Amino acid sequence: MRITRQDGIGVIAENFDSSSDEDVRALKEAVYRDKIVVLKGQELDPRQFLALGTRLGTPQTYYEPIYHHPEVPEIFVSSNVSDGDKRVGVPKTGKFWHSDYQFMPRAFDITLIYPQVVPSKNRGTFFIDLTKAYENLSEELKVAVKDTTAWHTVRHYFKIRPSDVYRPLSEIIEEVDAKTPPVPLPTAHPHRRTDETILYISEGFTLSLTDADGREQPELLREVLESTGQLDRTFEHPAIHLQTYDEGDLLLWDNRSLVHRALHTATDEPAVSYRVTIYDGAEA
Ligand SMILES: [Fe+2]
Repeated sequence: MRITRQDGIGVIAENFDSSSDEDVRALKEAVYRDKIVVLKGQELDPRQFLALGTRLGTPQTYYEPIYHHPEVPEIFVSSNVSDGDKRVGVPKTGKFWHSDYQFMPRAFDITLIYPQVVPSKNRGTFFIDLTKAYENLSEELKVAVKDTTAWHTVRHYFKIRPSDVYRPLSEIIEEVDAKTPPVPLPTAHPHRRTDETILYISEGFTLSLTDADGREQPELLREVLESTGQLDRTFEHPAIHLQTYDEGDLLLWDNRSLVHRALHTATDEPAVSYRVTIYDGAEA
């Protein structure tokens, strides 16, 4: 396997051999060290894609079945293609800053995305490195976030399912809160593999920050989010990396160190992407 640095965040990996223990180990190391790995020239069917995830950790099946691949439920499908009633997957997923499963007690360690139908333009994923975001915080903000807790929830971005039609909104919100109550975590905490400090907040899923006495600090949350680049609507903030991809590319990233946001094509071009998400090791 050959690894070369790319502009912005991450590396490109060529000639990866998934049957080689050494390549798998080097790939995993690269994910944690370099945060994003673009694996070139992949030709995998859904089961082979899942098998690659299994080489890196324990694949997790998404908690909402509407996203599942019909034959391989561990694969999450993002698709704007509709074939009459036979829709597979969910369109326009992840168009907000987040980490995958940040609203769950344990976020995924590694996300793998394997685009299946790649539109010719305006498709990709924006990333921001939250370890750099912590390093770049002003001393004043570093002190301010110390001993604060960030609360994460899917409430603002839960996608209404076909089965929710005609249900009262309040009932759906109640169900979301019961199934996925807000998750508290220290705002800045060490990464479990690298020991880097992560400023673990996202515009999409972080509902509030509370101080050591449990008081909400909305202005502090806004300031910290702004300093990371997540409030920049022009996407020109220097911390924002746009990852585009070609056919055959498979993207892996360190889901805890990065927040990401999908860039969806504004045209009618079909776009389909498969995702496998894994836990690496048993501990939370
Ligand atoms: Fe995502």
